[in-house]
Amino acid sequence: MERRDIPQDFDPLLPETFDSAHADYARLRRTCPVAHSNAWGGFWALMGYEDVKQAASDHRTFITSRQNVVPKVAFTGRRPPLHLDPPEHTPYRRALNPLLAPDRVALLEPATRRFAVKLLQPLIDRGYGDICTEFSSYLPVQVFGEWMQMPAHRLEDLHEAGRAFNIAVQSGVSETMKSTSLALYQLARELIANRRQNPRDPATDPTSALLAARHDGEPLPEELIVGTVRQVLVVGIIAPTVMIGSIAVHLCRHADLQDQLRGNPDLIPAAIEEFLRLYTPYRGFARTAVRDVEIAGRRIPADEPIALVFASANRDESVFQDGDQFRLHRPNIAEHLAFGRGPHNCPGAALGRLELRIALEELLARTDGFELNGEITPTRFPEIGALSVPLSFRN
Ligand code: HEM
Repeated sequence: MERRDIPQDFDPLLPETFDSAHADYARLRRTCPVAHSNAWGGFWALMGYEDVKQAASDHRTFITSRQNVVPKVAFTGRRPPLHLDPPEHTPYRRALNPLLAPDRVALLEPATRRFAVKLLQPLIDRGYGDICTEFSSYLPVQVFGEWMQMPAHRLEDLHEAGRAFNIAVQSGVSETMKSTSLALYQLARELIANRRQNPRDPATDPTSALLAARHDGEPLPEELIVGTVRQVLVVGIIAPTVMIGSIAVHLCRHADLQDQLRGNPDLIPAAIEEFLRLYTPYRGFARTAVRDVEIAGRRIPADEPIALVFASANRDESVFQDGDQFRLHRPNIAEHLAFGRGPHNCPGAALGRLELRIALEELLARTDGFELNGEITPTRFPEIGALSVPLSFRN
């Protein structure tokens, strides 16, 4: 069957609200857990928990090197680790993992809190502000800049290029996607040139770690080091931005939970895990099957893109009872897939969690309450969640 003849089970190009995609995915999990869409040249979407987990874990059948995200965005070069399959992908993870390990990330806590307070306090003093466009789109860039040891004067460029790239991806403007991606490559090349001239400690500087890495005794190829730095420049920024927006929406809708967490900040880490499950920010990370496969009784031909809809898998009622509801201390919360599974699982999980925790701690501690103060703007594929959340603050 030609791909265009396959009936369409859902249309990601229809207008969405903050909640509508989740309602659509609940329908698909019930009626069509392996769904097909004709958008962006056609793709499959795995909606159920076990199918997503299985595909993410089986890197031999489901490869990322062909297309790692729906819609396809990589026109400008290969960017490890996401664009490579094991074993080629492994040396890049070996270089990055120690720098993102919990003990290293803990060292970033004071700077993260400083950045959070500096960004947040003016909005609170003003009485209103957009938690996404004025706060959460900046915080991960600054934390990331600290981790990457980037020059401060390039952070605004990173914020701008990262934002423009994300908007271009979401609105499908491929020319802007390419030009902003190239601007990000330029930032990556600058960092690498700088570290070649002035090497830093590979135990603390990610770029120097990649330059120092050896595979079978050889340095990693220059273009792939550039690709890796370029990859982390974006992948580590968008998820926390969207997540903080989604958490704020939830807390505005549930003032009781807002008060409970404000009064008991020690509950915040458990709340963050449940928020990660409920507002998983990714739905478009993708694989391609190397052979025809059958999943939940449906045949997916080889070579066609398959989105792993982590956001849907994490609300699957067969694993998470009342999957659409927030439940503090779910007994099986550790099973959530917000950070993926298998060889491409997120190396930045500890850093992501740190950013979410500090953002929430500061937002709650510095206010007596906050409410929605305008329209929520939702994100589009490949993310899911909030892109703009106007709030008013009481303090
Ligand atoms: C709340 C925050 C975050 C969430 C929810 C998240 C989620 C994810 C997910 C689901 C994947 C797997 C993609 C796949 O299987 O195709 C991933 C991969 C990745 N993430 Fe994160 N992420 C977050 C923050 C970060 C941060 C702060 C960094 C910092 C550097 C980061 C770096 C990466 C990298 C490099 C990969 C690719 C790994 C590979 O291909 O081996 N992420 N992330």
